[in-house]
Amino acid sequence: MATAMVLGTQWGDEGKGKIVDYLAQKADVVIRSQGGNNAGHTVVVDDKAFALRLLPSGILFSDKTCIIGSGVVVNPEVLLQELDGMKEKGVTISKLEISTRAHVIMPYHIRIDEEDEKLKGDAKIGTTKNGIGPCYADKINRVGIRIGDLMDKDIFAKKLRVNLKLKNRLFETYYGCQGFDFDTIYQEYLGYADRIRPYVKDTNYSANVYINEGRKVLFEGAQATMLDIDHGTYPFCTSSNPTAGGACTGSGVGPRRMENIVGVVKAYTTRVGAGPFPAEQNNEIGEYLRNTGHEFGTVTGRPRRCGWLDTAVVKYAAMLNSLDYLAITRLDILDDLDTIKICTGYRYNGQLLPEYPASLEVLEQVEPVYEEMPGWKTDISACKTYDELPEAARKYVERISELVGVPLGIVSVGPNRSQTIILQ
Ligand code: GTP
Repeated sequence: MATAMVLGTQWGDEGKGKIVDYLAQKADVVIRSQGGNNAGHTVVVDDKAFALRLLPSGILFSDKTCIIGSGVVVNPEVLLQELDGMKEKGVTISKLEISTRAHVIMPYHIRIDEEDEKLKGDAKIGTTKNGIGPCYADKINRVGIRIGDLMDKDIFAKKLRVNLKLKNRLFETYYGCQGFDFDTIYQEYLGYADRIRPYVKDTNYSANVYINEGRKVLFEGAQATMLDIDHGTYPFCTSSNPTAGGACTGSGVGPRRMENIVGVVKAYTTRVGAGPFPAEQNNEIGEYLRNTGHEFGTVTGRPRRCGWLDTAVVKYAAMLNSLDYLAITRLDILDDLDTIKICTGYRYNGQLLPEYPASLEVLEQVEPVYEEMPGWKTDISACKTYDELPEAARKYVERISELVGVPLGIVSVGPNRSQTIILQ
């Protein structure tokens, strides 16, 4: 591997953290290129669980360089808390690089996120209220504050003043609440700036230099394809591009350098918050998946909506990301089922849809088409090789690969590094 990329093919929580952690063992550099502390990877090493929100999963290896790329939005307070937490657990942080171009989440972004969700009432998106969307909005609106700005106290003061002029007017007139005080934010953020300064770099250059030097670089996706701001189920999505293209723009690395693009597929489907979900099972199957899979948000604790695997979704993700391999996770969660269904497509007005619908109104009305396969009714969590998997389990993952048109690369049968079967 020269480069590899791991990204989610569904609505997130596929277990990307585990796959990244596994592949990071062979990588020299791990790059995160989008999202912020709205992600919530859980990586289990030697039975110790590490919850990562902003730091790339490679941080658990002291010899890897970890890059927070230009496409990430950084809450410096959360970043520093996470770094302190890692140090407390004995993880050495020496090779972290933070892009000078990454945007900074400010207290007013978090307030706008909270107020907007309140005002939307029933139409709320179900954001994590971490200020991610408003921070990206400022980036697009060209008033954002970047990590590099924070490193220069005069530039930071100038940009913060402009922002507070805009935002405080909004708070006072539109939201009907008090605005923010310049000195409080300024002093607080200069404190953060001093602590993160040693890590700040022009990572567009370092990322390309590492690739040119032949080092193995892993791109770690957060969120997932169906949450992509352009290609996902808009507006029930995230504010960045978790697709393969987003890894390029968010890291400053060109598309020709991207190899081994791995799409992580949970063996069933989950979704957090609102939005259409054709294969959802609001019944005992959904309950089984939620309880057996402990499908509750890592950060928020919210119960996830659960349903059968939907290959119409994964096939769409395979096209958008030009996937090279599938990594199927959480296969063990299906161990006790007598039969397992796969949603292979949708009918709309009686017709089979040839493409994934862009319209949410259509998606809300589609009728899922299912195929049923026998379950394996065996504990597979100790299987170490593909051949050790029961035949029904092999048939299930092979059928997924066939329906999606992408070869199998990894099958995961438990949360630990050792519970990973490699096929390619
Ligand atoms: P987001 O970036 O928020 O989408 O997270 P994610 O895709 O990394 O998934 P998350 O860490 O929220 O959830 C995955 C959970 O499943 C973690 O607790 C993992 O340890 C666990 N996990 C990963 N693979 C497997 C597996 O094959 N079997 C089981 N039982 N658990 C797994």
